[in-house]
Amino acid sequence: MKALILSGGKGTRLRPLTHTGAKQLVPVANKPILWYGIESIVKAGITEIGIIISPETGEEIRRKTGSGEQFGANITYILQDEPLGLAHAVKIGRPFLGDSPFIMYLGDNLIQDDINVFLDKFKNQHLDELILLRSVSNPTAFGVAVVDDKGRVLKLVEKPKNPPSNLALVGVYFFSPAVHQAIDNIQPSPRGELEITDAIQELINTDKIVESVQLQGWWLDTGKKDDLLEANRIILDTNLSIDKAGNIDDKSKISGRVNIKGNTTIINSTIRGPVIIGENCHIENCFIGPYTSIGDKCTLVDADIEHSVLLESAQILEIDQRIVDSLIGGRAKLEMAPQRPKALRFMVGDDSHVELV
Ligand code: DAU
Repeated sequence: MKALILSGGKGTRLRPLTHTGAKQLVPVANKPILWYGIESIVKAGITEIGIIISPETGEEIRRKTGSGEQFGANITYILQDEPLGLAHAVKIGRPFLGDSPFIMYLGDNLIQDDINVFLDKFKNQHLDELILLRSVSNPTAFGVAVVDDKGRVLKLVEKPKNPPSNLALVGVYFFSPAVHQAIDNIQPSPRGELEITDAIQELINTDKIVESVQLQGWWLDTGKKDDLLEANRIILDTNLSIDKAGNIDDKSKISGRVNIKGNTTIINSTIRGPVIIGENCHIENCFIGPYTSIGDKCTLVDADIEHSVLLESAQILEIDQRIVDSLIGGRAKLEMAPQRPKALRFMVGDDSHVELV
């Protein structure tokens, strides 16, 4: 069994959070989304992993993620020159996949459930394909499935205008090598992509066994701010270990589950977990409230923040109002004049969203 993680795509980053990086590298609880997928695959006993990358963001993904050694895996990077669809990515991955069955994992998806249970079902029942489904309130944004009462898949449609059900395809799929023939038989969709939903429909049409399982745990497609904050909240709630490696002075109060990495200085501040703070940060006269993740090299002075995510090297200086529900990009700087401001002055990038509430 092998795994193919799709981390290429249109180079549409998680706007406006990052214009410079791959959306699969945006951190949740200070760890890139992509790495959760890798860890989950390795936990299921699969160590041969191919990662599809694009010319725009591939180098950054390769540099950060490396050979796979840190995960106990062997990673092969596979360049997809153009984002011509999920099934096209499988086509490009075919020399790596050979005749092996495989998991296809979308690099911007996060699921709570361990994949072992699904893998066992796929193997034990000798399925040609197993898909994961989750009922959603906005099925038009996803691939949508119609299944019978035993979970056998009858029909699939990609982002339908009139959804035939509310069961969305989650970005984790289990395939036998039969999918390659199915991909060879399909044509690009009206939006010009080779759709994996069409390939699965082709498997159904040629009497292959395509089954589904409905996810019990949460699933996050981390494309939007609120989804990312929600993923951050859930991971901090469920997966955060306590660590106080930083230099914390006597005047600071730390309570709840808090993880502070080495070389970070905390002065005269209150930190109420769950909170994670990266390396080489400076935090002074601050309140850091629950569900906040602060990346490496951030500086916060006279700041009050909760339920927020700060990327590497962000700065918040002397803002006397509480900051909530916020995503603050890498190297961004927020500061306020010492006296109550009479005017507001911004330098805000494309696609940004500022709310003064
Ligand atoms: O998140 C689940 C949904 O993912 C499913 O319900 C849909 O059926 C499926 O088509 C997919 O829809 P998205 O619109 O979310 O796909 P997106 O273009 O965001 O691509 C998903 C991942 O695959 C992302 O990490 C980028 C990568 N990708 C995408 C394309 C089109 C590639 O590596 N190569 C590609 O050509």
